[in-house]
Order: sequence, then C-alpha cells, then structure tokens
Amino acid sequence: MDIQRIGIVGCGLMGSGIAQCAAESGCLVLVKEANEALLTKGLARIHSAWDRAVAKGKVSEDQRAGWTLNVKGTLEFAALTECDLVVEAIPERLDLKLQTFTALDSLLGPKTILCTNTSSLSVAQISPVLAAYRLPRLAGLHFFNPVPMMPLVEVVRTLATDEDTLATLRAFVQKLGKTAVMAPDAPGFIVNRLLIPYLLDAMRCAEQRLATVEDIDTGMKLGCGHPMGPLHLSDFIGLDTMQSVAEVLFEAFGEPRFKAPALLRQLVAAGRLGRKTGSGFYRWEGEKRAEALPL
Ligand SMILES: NC(=O)c1ccc[n+]([C@@H]2O[C@H](COP(=O)([O-])OP(=O)(O)OC[C@H]3O[C@@H](n4cnc5c(N)ncnc54)[C@H](O)[C@@H]3O)[C@@H](O)[C@H]2O)c1
Repeated sequence: MDIQRIGIVGCGLMGSGIAQCAAESGCLVLVKEANEALLTKGLARIHSAWDRAVAKGKVSEDQRAGWTLNVKGTLEFAALTECDLVVEAIPERLDLKLQTFTALDSLLGPKTILCTNTSSLSVAQISPVLAAYRLPRLAGLHFFNPVPMMPLVEVVRTLATDEDTLATLRAFVQKLGKTAVMAPDAPGFIVNRLLIPYLLDAMRCAEQRLATVEDIDTGMKLGCGHPMGPLHLSDFIGLDTMQSVAEVLFEAFGEPRFKAPALLRQLVAAGRLGRKTGSGFYRWEGEKRAEALPL
C-alpha cells in the first residue's frame, strides 16, 4: 500500500514535525489535537518552519502553498477514519496511549496501519485495546527530534506485525527522504537504549557538581564531535519526556544507569521542562539556547 492519507494524533514537538515532513512528501495530513488552542499552536509551528524556509529562499511560495493545503487540523478522532496510516504522538504515558488507541479501534477502517511514536514503551502493550484483526497492522514508527532534520526512523515490529505492514512503513520512511532501521519491540529500541543512560549520566555529573552545565556540554560536544552536549540535548528532547522514558527503561531493566536522577525529577516538578517551556538546564529564547540556569 502507498501511504497517501496520514492521521497524526498529537501535534506537539514530534507530531508537528511528522506532519510537516509528511505534507512535504505529498501526503494529505490530518492532525488531531486535544483542544483548539493546542491545535492552533501545533499548526503554527509547522507554518512558521515553512515561513522561515521561504524567507531563506530554500522553498518557493508555490511550494509552501501546496504543502499548506496538504495539512488540516481536527479535534475529532472520527475525522481520521479514511487514513491509510495513523501515527500516535501524544505524551509518553501508557494510560493516555491506551485511551487513544481504544478510540481509534472503534473508528478506523480495517486496512489502516496503526503506529505509535513511543520512545520507550513496548508497542505490544497497545495490543489489548485493539481488535485481533488489527494486530498485524500495529507497529512502532519512532522518529527523532527535530523530525525535519533527523534522517533516522526506527520501524518497530511486534511478534504480530506482518511483512506487508513493515514493507509499507519502510517505503513510507523512504518517501519522507529518511532511512529506516528495523528495531525489536524492546524498551528503548536501539537508539534510546544506548542514548538515555548517557544523558542521565550527564545529569548525575551536573548533580554531583563534577563540572558546570556548560562545561559538561562543551566537553562532550568538542571532545566527542557530537552536534550538541547531553544537557543541551535533554532540554531539546523535553525533561518530562526524559523522565518518563527513564522510568520505563528502569522498570524494564532494573539497572541503576536507567534511573532518573533526583535533579531531573526536581526540574520537572519545577516546570523546567527544557526548550518547550523556555527553561530547563538552560534558559531558552524560542528555538535559541541562552545561558545555563542555576541548579
Ligand atoms: N521529544 C522527543 O525528543 C521525542 C523523540 C522521539 C519520540 N518521542 C515520543 O513522541 C511522543 C510525543 O512526544 P512530544 O515530545 O511530541 O510531546 P509533546 O508534549 O510535545 O506533544 C504531545 C502532544 O499530544 C497532545 N495530546 C495529548 N493527548 C491528546 C489526545 N487525546 N488527542 C490529541 N492530542 C493529544 C498534547 O496536547 C501535546 O500537544 C511521546 O511518546 C515521546 O516519547 C519524543
């Protein structure tokens, strides 16, 4: 099946990026948000990315106009019934994801492929709320942040996912101009299983005052050739998302390296969630990182 109509549930950091890329590849995209204000905010994120691209001369007005027509918003799950593929990109909480898939199960056509963009949860945990006939068309489609820039997508298969679904998803990833790797349905898949302990270790270093936040980031950026340091990256991912992912991985593996440090919990409790709230390890001016904040 060639994916032409895609539904995206959640138009936050990830959902808006997936919607942007899918619209640019020529798909018709319907994004579903929780309320009008969040929908407006999510769609504005997509449109301002295109405005910046036009202003830089990378994209023509005509191209932008075509892409804009490809994206529509809705507050109703029922609007997604005709989609070939629905990607869920709501917060990393199993209870919320199960509510979403329960709603989708009762509304979608039988051929729709259902995917979650979860970073850490087991995709198969969604199965109990779906009719048995849907399970061969349930998979993980794990994009990376920021979606428009990151070329990788992990395609996650459960024991029930069928070959047609995997081939369709691989072709869809290719249509977006990205590279797919096949990942097992194990917590953290490939990339986060390796990345998250490193980011949490950097937080423990900051917690123990090994060095300043800036020096930890500069050390790893320049010493290891990474595009950004681990605390900068954590702000970028979202500290609430980091905490949720750490909790899932720690519960799954029980190893201390996956445990959320107290500092992470304190920052989340204080509402310092990183770039999306304007403060985390750093202060943020929109997309731009400013100075490190006191810990
Ligand atoms: N942030 C990252 O770097 C990253 C990377 C890869 C995967 N992920 C995963 O992607 C998912 C989304 O993460 P995010 O960073 O985009 O979170 P986010 O908080 O930026 O966005 C989530 C959005 O979902 C919306 N939402 C909540 N309930 C909804 C509902 N019932 N219907 C429609 N919309 C609803 C929220 O209003 C919010 O806008 C999570 O599972 C996360 O683990 C995140």
